[in-house]
Amino acid sequence: MANELLLSVKDLRTWYELKKWGFFHTGHVKALDGVTFDLSHGEALTVVGESGSGKTTLIKTILGLVPATSGEITFSSHKLDGKTSIGWLRSKVGFVQQDPYGALPPFMSVRRILLEPMVINKTGTSIEREQRIREVMEEVRLLPVNDFLSKFPHMLSGGQQQRLVIARAMILRPSLIVADEPVSMLDASVRVEILELMRKVQKTHDLGVIYITHDLSTVRYFSERVFIMYAARFVEKAEVREIIHNTLHPYTKALLTAIPDPDPENANQYRDVPAGEPPSLVKPPSGCRFHPRCPVRIEGLCEEEQPPAFESSRDHFVECWLYRK
Ligand SMILES: Nc1ncnc2c1ncn2[C@@H]1O[C@H](COP(=O)(O)OP(=O)(O)O)[C@@H](O)[C@H]1O
Ligand code: SF4
Ligand SMILES: [Mg+2]
Repeated sequence: MANELLLSVKDLRTWYELKKWGFFHTGHVKALDGVTFDLSHGEALTVVGESGSGKTTLIKTILGLVPATSGEITFSSHKLDGKTSIGWLRSKVGFVQQDPYGALPPFMSVRRILLEPMVINKTGTSIEREQRIREVMEEVRLLPVNDFLSKFPHMLSGGQQQRLVIARAMILRPSLIVADEPVSMLDASVRVEILELMRKVQKTHDLGVIYITHDLSTVRYFSERVFIMYAARFVEKAEVREIIHNTLHPYTKALLTAIPDPDPENANQYRDVPAGEPPSLVKPPSGCRFHPRCPVRIEGLCEEEQPPAFESSRDHFVECWLYRK
């Protein structure tokens, strides 16, 4: 199945309409504004971007939770155009949320939480369902299974809650998992553990995964490719090794520089991170959206024209005028 296309997203735009008094149209938040990518079966992909860059909107649009304004999403050869059955989509795409406690119904036991998707989708007999629950719990290491089955979410640690959320996302044997900052609310000590678990599950079942994060330092644990998101667009797309060893976009360089260095010797080292705030998505900057913060902008060009995606080397795309051919 590897290399076979699982998901294709073309020129996707998701705009939220703004209304004064809930009535008068005052503009749009252009949360996704021309996003294009493909994902193969069994491939893990990371999307990195700062808060407010449109990462959650991307996930919500793929899951059909918010409607796309324009563009095309094709998943498993089905066009997702609002007519696709949400039930079918839910059984094929597992969702791992950012806040595991908020994502779990507080009054349901672990068994009930894992049973629910199978009941809703009418899959399996009661014996098969019970077997599947045990199988998935073993896979995510909620062990011993018998001890956990009757527990409620508040009785679990943050790491165990996220394991349960992953188990629920897996229970219907999806072909794609979308994970929205799955470790950002966990203690640093369990973050790597959860990312490694997701990677193991992905490899075992040849799953497609879209892993969303604001933390570029976690990427190397995870994926084959990484996409850098800035102000509702992908500004750089490449394989993980390539993006780390041959960083091109000035924003990606800034993200890499901003990764904290745990070495106390370097505690006072000056870091050259561009000043400024993420731009408004209601009125994004003209031309290249990064130009107000870019230390190497080309006057007369960068603020005028949006750079297209240049392919600087094979499968390494960058939206920056510095790399025009
Ligand atoms: N329902 C909504 N209505 C209006 N604006 C929204 C809505 N949801 C998100 N936004 C805005 O869209 C932008 C992108 O948000 P989001 O996708 O949550 O980004 P991220 O996950 O990268 O932090 C932000 O400016 C956010 O305020
Ligand atoms: S296009 Fe211009 S402003 Fe944008 S990142 Fe490249 S050099 Fe900087
Ligand atoms: Mg988000």
